[in-house]
Amino acid sequence: MTRKVQIIGVCSSPRHANTEIMLQEALKAAEKAYPEIVTKMISLKGKVIKPCFDCKACERRRMFVLVDQCVLKDDWKDLIQPLVDPVPNGIIMASPVYFSDVNAQMRAFMERCTSLLKPYWFPSISFNAPDFSRTAAGALSVGFHRHGGQETAILTILRFCTILGMTVVGSVDPLHGPIGYLGGAGWEDVAGKQGREAVKEDAWGLFSARVLGRRVARTAIMLANAPAVPQISEPFVSPMSSFNNEKEK
Ligand SMILES: Cc1cc2nc3c(=O)[nH]c(=O)nc-3n(C[C@H](O)[C@H](O)[C@H](O)COP(=O)(O)O)c2cc1C
Repeated sequence: MTRKVQIIGVCSSPRHANTEIMLQEALKAAEKAYPEIVTKMISLKGKVIKPCFDCKACERRRMFVLVDQCVLKDDWKDLIQPLVDPVPNGIIMASPVYFSDVNAQMRAFMERCTSLLKPYWFPSISFNAPDFSRTAAGALSVGFHRHGGQETAILTILRFCTILGMTVVGSVDPLHGPIGYLGGAGWEDVAGKQGREAVKEDAWGLFSARVLGRRVARTAIMLANAPAVPQISEPFVSPMSSFNNEKEK
């Protein structure tokens, strides 16, 4: 039996609309291309996600589950759980463009993930940070205008995925070369008509989403099937006090 390779899509639009359509396009293309791929979409629509208040509770608490290190009570824990336990093979994060960047929902979702990294710096936390090094990550974004900031929003997501240690890819493949370049990029006003489904007229944008979906899928399959490679550490005394707190790994 073929081992299943899971890709999770995260959509931060407050509407079931263009960004979700683009994300579904990417996820469907991934499933269609490779029989072992299974996908799931998580929508942040209607969810309450507070921003990080830098309260430091996640550095001090001694919880039994990593996501409980964050003290804030809202929907973030339920939303992040499928991304950490187990860590998926692939992830595609999708945001509408707001002021040339991701929207506040996506930003808050990302900020709260700082608690996932705290085990690196606070050895008294009893578990390790999630290992995303075998997770392929891609981003997509939809703006109203052709050049409304899709690339800057995509870069925000890709920086986040890079910091979490994921293997980041773009809307690029060996057959077509760069299509969406950094990620899938769509625009609502493509046919001069705005609306929740307007991006369906954006043939190139949808193509960029499909290329992204297949690229994330192929990379996820490669990572899932790669042999185990040891992680090499070295003794290093850093001027950064937190670094020297490194746990025995
Ligand atoms: C607060 C706000 C700010 C926005 N800023 C931009 C922008 O900077 N550039 C752009 O092209 N579109 C901007 N838009 C338009 C949305 O990106 C566009 O309507 C997109 O299709 C929304 O995605 P959705 O249909 O999935 O909700 C903005 C919309 C809102 C509500």
